[in-house]
Amino acid sequence: MSDFRVPENFLWGGAISANQAEGAYREGGRGISNIDLIPHGSSRMDVKLGKVSDPELQTDAFYPSHEAIDFYHHYKEDIALFAEMGFKMFRMSISWSRIFPKGIEEEPNREGIEFYRNVFTELRKYDIEPLVTMCHYDTPLYLEEVLGGWTNRQLVDAFEKYAKVIFEEYKGLVRYWLTFNEINSQLMMKNFVPNAPKQMLENAYAGLHNQFVASARAVKLAHEQYPEYVVGCMIAGMTTYPLTCDPQDVLRAQHKMQEDFYYSGDVMIRGHYPVFAKRMWREDGVSFEVPEEDLEILKEGRADFFSFSYYSTSCETTHTDAPKDGAGNLVLGYKNPYIQYSDWGWGMDADGLRYILNEIYGRYQVPIMIVENGLGAIDTVEADGSIHDDYRIAYLKDHVRAMSEAIDDGVELIAFTPWGCIDLVSASTGEMRKRYGFIYVDMDDDGNGSMERSRKDSFYWYKKVIASNGEELE
Ligand code: BG6
Repeated sequence: MSDFRVPENFLWGGAISANQAEGAYREGGRGISNIDLIPHGSSRMDVKLGKVSDPELQTDAFYPSHEAIDFYHHYKEDIALFAEMGFKMFRMSISWSRIFPKGIEEEPNREGIEFYRNVFTELRKYDIEPLVTMCHYDTPLYLEEVLGGWTNRQLVDAFEKYAKVIFEEYKGLVRYWLTFNEINSQLMMKNFVPNAPKQMLENAYAGLHNQFVASARAVKLAHEQYPEYVVGCMIAGMTTYPLTCDPQDVLRAQHKMQEDFYYSGDVMIRGHYPVFAKRMWREDGVSFEVPEEDLEILKEGRADFFSFSYYSTSCETTHTDAPKDGAGNLVLGYKNPYIQYSDWGWGMDADGLRYILNEIYGRYQVPIMIVENGLGAIDTVEADGSIHDDYRIAYLKDHVRAMSEAIDDGVELIAFTPWGCIDLVSASTGEMRKRYGFIYVDMDDDGNGSMERSRKDSFYWYKKVIASNGEELE
C-alpha cells in the first residue's frame, strides 16, 4: 500500500436510483414507468428482453418498486443519515415520469418538479453535492409502449425537452449530471441471449444510438446555456480477463471489452464511433449505419467526465464450450480461480478496479467517478438491533485501497459513491434481501416491514473513512 493520499476535495458519497428507492409511484402526479410493471421475481433484464410487457398492472401481484423504501416520504431522515456519515456527494436519479407523466406533455408536472427541488435543497443544507442521473432505467411507459421505445427518434426530442426543463429548474442546486445509467447495457443483453434474433440486435444498436444522440444533445445544451454544469456519461463497468495466456483467449477478452465497454465510452467521450464498430455490426448481421446528420452532434456533445459502476470481473476463453459459470453485473463469463465470489455469484476483484481505472484514464484522460460499487449480501439483525456486516466492510476496504493505488498511478479519480448506500430494491432480482447499504431498511422481499432505518457497522466504518479522507480503513 502506498502512502499516497486521496485529494482533499475528493467527493465521497453514496448512490441510489428513483425506481429502486422512491416508491410513491402514483403520488404527486407521477406517471407510470416501464419499471413499475416489473412484478416480484422478475427483473430489469426481463423488461429489456421483452418478457415483461403486460401493460396492465395486476392487482394481485406484488411490485417491489411501487413502494420501494419510500424515499419519497423519508428523504429528510435519509439525507440526515448521509450527512452524519459525512457525505460530500449523493447520487440519485430523477424519475422522468414524475416530471413528464407520459413523456409527451406540453408542460411539466409541477409537483414532481417541487419534490426534487425539496430533495436538492435538503442536500444543500448539509453541503452535499447532488449527482443527478437523468434516466436510470425508468422511462415513462407511454414512450415505451405507445411510441415503441428508443428505436423511435421521437424519444430523442422527448428527452431533450425533459433535459431543458430540469436543467432550468435546478439551476444553483445541481451541478453534476449523468445522462443515462449504464447506457452500454443495451448491448450487454447479448450476454444473456445467445444467438439473439436479428431484429433484437437491430433494435439494440439503433436504440443505443438514439440514446447517444439524446445524451449528446443534453450535453450540448448544458455547455451552451449552463456553463456551471458538468455532464458525465455512465457506463456499466466490468473487466474481462483472458482465462489463459493463449493469444486466442487474449483476443477474445479484448473483443469483449471493446463490445461491452469501449463501444459506448468511445462515442460519449471521444464523440465518434470506434474503429472496431463496423466489424461488430457486420458480425452481428445488423444493417446499422450512423446517420450522417448525427456525426456532428455526437462530436459537439462529448461528455465532460467518465463515470461507471464497478462490481465484478469475469474471464473469457476459447478452450471450452461449457456454460459460463461466472456472473456479475450484466455480464456472464467464466469463473476466475484467483478471486472470491459473492452469495449471488458475482466475482469480487478489487485489483480489477485499479486495472480498469488505469485503462479508462489511459484511453480518455478525463476525470473519472466511480458511481456504483459495493457488495450485495444478506444481513442479519441481532437481538439488540445491531448489524455486523464485516463482509461488506472487507469488500469496500479492498476497493478503496485499489482506488487509492489507482490515484497514485496518476488516475484523475474525483468521486466514489458506493451503490445502495441505503438498502433498496435489487435491480436484477427485485429482492430486498440483497442489501448493499450502510443503512438498514426494515422491509422484506414480500413488502413486509416497518421501513425503519438503522445504522450497520459499515455506517460507522464509512464515516471514519470519509473523515480521514480514505486514510483510516481499519
Ligand atoms: C447496476 C445498476 O446495474 O447495478 C443498479 O445501475 C443496480 O440499478 C446495481 O441496483 C446492482 O445490481 P443489483 O442487481 O444487485 O441490484
